[in-house]
This record gives sequence, C-alpha cells and structure tokens, in this order.
Amino acid sequence: MQITFYGHSCFSIKAESVSILVDPFISFNPAAAHIDLTDEKFDYILLSHGHWDHIADAIEYAEKFDATVLSNVEVVKWMSNNGVKKTVDINFGGTLTADWGKIKYVTAHHSSSMPDGSYAGNPGGFVITIDDKTVYYTGDTSVMFDMKLIPMFNKIDLGIFCIGGYYTMDVNEAVLAAQFVETKKVMGVHYNTFPPIHIDTNQAIESFKKEGIELLLPEIGGSINI
Ligand code: NI
Ligand code: MN
Repeated sequence: MQITFYGHSCFSIKAESVSILVDPFISFNPAAAHIDLTDEKFDYILLSHGHWDHIADAIEYAEKFDATVLSNVEVVKWMSNNGVKKTVDINFGGTLTADWGKIKYVTAHHSSSMPDGSYAGNPGGFVITIDDKTVYYTGDTSVMFDMKLIPMFNKIDLGIFCIGGYYTMDVNEAVLAAQFVETKKVMGVHYNTFPPIHIDTNQAIESFKKEGIELLLPEIGGSINI
C-alpha cells in the first residue's frame, strides 16, 4: 500500500486493487501548486467533514476521475445536490465492504458545516483496510477516548493524524492518540498550511520518538509505503 501526501490533509492510498483520494484540497493550496494529478486515477474520494480545507476540490475531482464520493449522509447529500453522481453515504459504526477491503467511518471531536453554511452532520475519520494493511485517518479532531476503540477492531499499521494544533490535535495530543490507537507509525497532516498551524517539525519528530513512535512527514508529493 502506497500513501502519497498532497499537502494539508490531502493524501492518496493506492494498492493494486483500489485507489483512494482523501480530503482533496490541492488547487487552493499554494504549497501544493506543483502537484499534477493528470495521470492519476481514483476510484473513491473520501471526505472526513464539510470544511472547505477538506472538500475544496471534491466536486471537480469526482467528475474528472469518475470517482465515488464517500462521506456521511449529510455531506454526501450536499455533494449530490451539487452535481456529484456516484456516492456512498455511511455513518458512524458503518462500514463499506468491497472485494479489495473496507472503509469504516468513525467519530471525531470537531465541528462541521458545508461552505455555504448547510448542515454537514458530524465530522469523522476513516479506518481503511486494503489487503492485509489498515490505516486510521483521524480527520480533524482533538484527542478523545473513542480512539481506544479503534484497535479493538483492527490492528493499525499507520496512523494519519492531524498535528498542527489550533484547529485540531497538536503534537502532544497526537502522541497520546498514537498510544490510544496502539500504533508505532504516524504520518502527520494538517500542519504548516496556515500561520496558526505552523509547527517545529524536528521537535514534533522528537516528541514522538521519545515515546517510541515514528513520525513520518513526507514532502508534498512524497510517498511512503507500508
Ligand atoms: Ni475542519
Ligand atoms: Mn481542517
């Protein structure tokens, strides 16, 4: 399984059997100006919640890639109303199962609304299993005890956690989250995009390392394999 970071909280997960794009925010992110998706193909676009910095490119990309948009009922309804044709609407506790694996929608402690102020339901995260590997993407959230439920259902090979603070978990909370989830490997997202979420990345890596956890911070456009 290959994970490619596209800046902010946007990344893809690719395996032989499926290709997934999460929280698309590329064309509006100056730091991701060099990202070119022309030759890419995505089967699914996952949206953790309705905030602009997670859905900005969703409508355009859904059409461009002929992709299925997966999120909660309210976000998906808004996407359908705005022209998205292929959708999956699940909710907390729910899982999409397919021949390549499964995607579970899990809770997050955050807020959510669509860019026009429409109700977006509650924000979430995703537990994504492809072949024999499982990734947990928190979405925007604070640390929460609900995270302790995650490893009761799946062993987490990689956590993809917000670490920028201010709007979400900061590094200290994310270290605790990794311990709750019982994972030893985390990719950091939702940092350094805007001034309030600028962090010292070396210090962040050290904070995780002290607890025996590896923090991966790929360049925008860079990939990691698990
Ligand atoms: Ni948000
Ligand atoms: Mn956000």
